Amino acid sequence: THHHQYHFVVTEAPFTRLCSTKNILTVNGKFPGPTLLVHRGDTIFVMVHNKARHNITIHWHGVHQPRNPWSDGPEYITQCPIQPGGKFNQKIFFSTEEGTIWWHAHSDWSRATVHGAIVVFPKLGTAYPFPKPHKEVPIILGEWWKKDLIEVLEGLLKTGGEPNASDALTINGQPGDLYECSKSETFKLHVAPNQTYLLRIVNAALNTIFFFSIAKHNLTVVGSDGSYTKPLTTDYIAISPGQTMDALLFTNQNSSCLYYMAARAYSSGTNVSFDNTTATALLQYQRNEVVPSQSPLLLTSLPDYNDTKSAFKFITRVRSLADTDHQINVPLNITTKLVSTVSINTFPCPENCSCEGPNGTRLVASMNNISFVQPSVPILDAYYHHINGVFENDFPRFPPLLFDFTSDYLPLELELPKRGTKVRILDYGSTVEVVFQGTNLVSGIDHPMHLHGYSFFVVGYGFGNFNEERDKLGYNLVDPPLLNTVIVPKNGWTTVRFKATNPGVWFMHCHLERHLTWGMDTVFIVKNGKHPQSKLLPPPSDMPPC
Ligand code: C2O
Ligand code: CU
Repeated sequence: THHHQYHFVVTEAPFTRLCSTKNILTVNGKFPGPTLLVHRGDTIFVMVHNKARHNITIHWHGVHQPRNPWSDGPEYITQCPIQPGGKFNQKIFFSTEEGTIWWHAHSDWSRATVHGAIVVFPKLGTAYPFPKPHKEVPIILGEWWKKDLIEVLEGLLKTGGEPNASDALTINGQPGDLYECSKSETFKLHVAPNQTYLLRIVNAALNTIFFFSIAKHNLTVVGSDGSYTKPLTTDYIAISPGQTMDALLFTNQNSSCLYYMAARAYSSGTNVSFDNTTATALLQYQRNEVVPSQSPLLLTSLPDYNDTKSAFKFITRVRSLADTDHQINVPLNITTKLVSTVSINTFPCPENCSCEGPNGTRLVASMNNISFVQPSVPILDAYYHHINGVFENDFPRFPPLLFDFTSDYLPLELELPKRGTKVRILDYGSTVEVVFQGTNLVSGIDHPMHLHGYSFFVVGYGFGNFNEERDKLGYNLVDPPLLNTVIVPKNGWTTVRFKATNPGVWFMHCHLERHLTWGMDTVFIVKNGKHPQSKLLPPPSDMPPC
């Protein structure tokens, strides 16, 4: 195994998109940031230097960080932010994940530009469960905001309404040639004919679920969230913020044409602002030294922005590879069953503020009607050093909320969620089932729920109200996908299972950044096991101070 030391220098740098230039936060001056290349089994260190004017933390999304939440990154959950001038050497051990995952800032909204791919190759001496590709290419989907993100976030907190949408969607940092201003910078993928390419697709956007496709070419999905899937051939994918997908592209089409790659938002919400533009990139066969004169082929296969059916048709087809070399252990006997609503709600508008939510209220978000409040002492510190008063351990409430989640009728007690820093403590080794129930309280929208420190098996999805007796009969306990981020359908539910064998403090939240900010978050604290190898590691000596 290798023990590489990397350096991530967080600096501001000027970037020009859509004909205007602004300073953005970057790592090593790059946007999107550098790709980390590692093998499964490697341990690396990344020294994060904060040379910017804002606090920052970096999270390794999809890395399980066994026994070591200290390097996980979410601000005030596992660490104090790194202050300007500060640094923090984070240790990252790639234990079980394999395929594409990613890293991103986990403080304020800085992850809009502070992000990059992580490629975890198979252990040295082992191979992919698919033919070796000719080349591998990261495809990072994102957003471009003309405004400063700190201002966008402040505005969101002040008005309590929907935030402005981004100004363009991007593929590898570029809006593409539907934007006159950015046309010449459009990302181009040059390919050789009759080869296999592995696209390592990351959805790094703050608030956009994407449909993505390539004209006239199918994609064969072979992995997602750092774990292999049964090959799934499709003409489009749906991918939520936080998710990653490995897809094979066969360059078997007429090599004298140019082909569009395109990404467009999928949004199930009706009264939600989102960026409805289309980001494009180009696929060009290398045989043409000269750019062909005919215009690129148009897309035919990208579903409409509100096409929930197509989104879930794709999502529910993803299965674990689960072959003899890649066996999976779906928990069958559940010791801890949790049901949690995921909702958008409202708070009264604070005095002297003008709020833009429905009826002059401010929008918030909740899990089980608790809107999460970020503490000022990191929860991991409070847990490890027995500091009282930082969090309460009564999440979620029991019995869970009962009402018709999908109707527009709003029980009064649910209109105003409670605020709190509520966590759930889990015994080491417990087998946990979580049912996320989407509601229609204030607005119905899909939520990509993400758990740190683990991947979970997604055993079932459905529309409408969850009904255990009925719905458990449809669970997939044979080859459910092993993901770290999963979409909960609007007015529907998703069930996940995992075994709590990673002690520590692990954030769980919606990966739509505005919902995270509004409080659709909670924390699992997994206790130590008896064996010395099942106990939390001690903190490193250079943890950033608050
Ligand atoms: Cu991708 Cu809490 O993170
Ligand atoms: Cu959400």
